[in-house]
Amino acid sequence: MIKLAPSILAADFAKLGEEVKEAEQAGADWIHIDVMDGHFVPNISLGPIAVKAVRPLTDLPLDVHLMIENPDRYIRDFTEAGADYITVHAEACPHLHRTIQLIRSEGAKPGVVLNPHTPVSAIQHILEDVDLVLLMTVNPGFGGQTFIPSVLSKVRELKTMIDERNLKVEIQIDGGINEQTIGPCVEAGAGVFVAGSAIFGKKDRRAALQAIKQAGEE
Ligand code: DX5
Ligand code: ZN
Repeated sequence: MIKLAPSILAADFAKLGEEVKEAEQAGADWIHIDVMDGHFVPNISLGPIAVKAVRPLTDLPLDVHLMIENPDRYIRDFTEAGADYITVHAEACPHLHRTIQLIRSEGAKPGVVLNPHTPVSAIQHILEDVDLVLLMTVNPGFGGQTFIPSVLSKVRELKTMIDERNLKVEIQIDGGINEQTIGPCVEAGAGVFVAGSAIFGKKDRRAALQAIKQAGEE
């Protein structure tokens, strides 16, 4: 069974409550919240108040993707707002081990994210400490970009590394996921999928979400 994490970045913010509830009813597993600071990535999006606003709308885990510099400064703000998973970019964390421990000590499940060009070897010494690894299949910063297929070899490499060590780390994919691109990612070993525009960019969110999930489970 795969998991789908709709990204509210692509949702209609004027009716965020309905969007989240509709996603939940359609079979979403997590809700993905994209946090961008205009420094680590060339865009500004949401912060802790968005997490706080979504928290009472759903019982689903809130998966907070921090595309920010200096994430340590804000971890507590996000856990207090109700984050269940917090992922940080290896590229933004010179003291990644410390950041991961901080997330866990604040009560959330920690994950590490890699940009498309960052090798899997960058996290070989942190794998035992995280609950998930997110491999970006677009350059972070914007929704609606095209899936980068060369990341698939990284998915396979990571899957092998996790299996060889008998770990329970989840592999998440983010960027350009749709009915066509999810299949190869599942085959390569990923289990959790973020999708923004392929769900909230469609008129019928429920049909879109279910079609992607079904394509991933075939
Ligand atoms: C990109 C974000 C993604 C984005 C995905 O920087 O991390 O989560 O919302 O959007 P789609 O599915 O449209 O590529
Ligand atoms: Zn994301």
